[in-house]
Amino acid sequence: MSTVRVFSGIQPSGELHIGNWFGAIQNWVQVQDEYDCIYCVVDYHAITDQFGPEAKRYRTAQGESMAERSLRMAGDLIACGIDPQKSILFVQSHVPEHTELAWIFSCIASYGDLQRMTQFKDKSDRSAYVSVGLFSYPVLQAADILLYRASRVPVGEDQVQHLELARRIGRRFNSLVGVEYFPEVEPLLTEGKRIMSPADPAQKMSKSLGPKHYIGLMEDPKESWKKIRSAVTDVGLEAGQSMSPGVANLIDLLRLSAPAEVVEEFVARHATGELLYGDLKKAVAESLETALASIRERRAQLGDAEVREILKEGAKKASAIARETMAEVRDLVGVGGAAS
Ligand code: TRP
Repeated sequence: MSTVRVFSGIQPSGELHIGNWFGAIQNWVQVQDEYDCIYCVVDYHAITDQFGPEAKRYRTAQGESMAERSLRMAGDLIACGIDPQKSILFVQSHVPEHTELAWIFSCIASYGDLQRMTQFKDKSDRSAYVSVGLFSYPVLQAADILLYRASRVPVGEDQVQHLELARRIGRRFNSLVGVEYFPEVEPLLTEGKRIMSPADPAQKMSKSLGPKHYIGLMEDPKESWKKIRSAVTDVGLEAGQSMSPGVANLIDLLRLSAPAEVVEEFVARHATGELLYGDLKKAVAESLETALASIRERRAQLGDAEVREILKEGAKKASAIARETMAEVRDLVGVGGAAS
């Protein structure tokens, strides 16, 4: 295995959907054979959104706590193929060095840089109350990655700005302490497709839009079929488009889950005006069901006790690396030494 280390994180924001799978997690699974990978369920990032009266103790409508959601997310990732024999999988709050390094980084990161983060600007514009945690979110993200001196980070396009910030923080640390300690952070961009919402193909598939807008990875195929059956197809074409965005999204889903000949056949029928959307929808639902069957089966067989055990082991391995980094970092910064 290569010594290049990969790190990535995902918030325990509830169930995974096929947009997460085709857009990111599938790539996490693939790079396991190439790199030394560490994957983290970032519960401390998730609480930047959920503190407050709407979500007392972070309980969701189903009454799930953050710890339960983290456990569920980890189980979903394992079912997807994150293999504890190959990679380290753990929950962020189980390794407290993340927040310790984040404090040191917050003394290095530029206030102006953080103010320019698009995600912060969007989220703070939409909220009545803006916490310091929401502002320093990318500092914690930089700490996540550099705590393991990881240099490759598989993420979607929307995280590139955060990774640039992580790179700046690492460089600034190195230049302040006069040692090339942290590596340069680079995104490992997922080739995966941007999957759109079936109910509104102008928007990216997302849980926050509501249940009609995403297809759950572990969802009952009957549920998925309802959403695919009512997917929006016949919005008018805009200049330069030969296929409406909803139809293009269905074709994309087919391309990700069905053999090439099947896709070509539907594309050809569309070109000659013979395509019946009902047939396309049926083909998409069937091929998705087949493509996801093994993930769903593995998920059904995975018990909470087993997932907890994997996370415990993961945290142990992650902690060993994290402790070593923090000892070196404290030393480089000149804090923490005994005053004896
Ligand atoms: N901010 C990332 C997201 O919302 C999640 C994340 C947290 C992350 N820490 C990370 C991703 C470290 C990559 C590396 O998608």
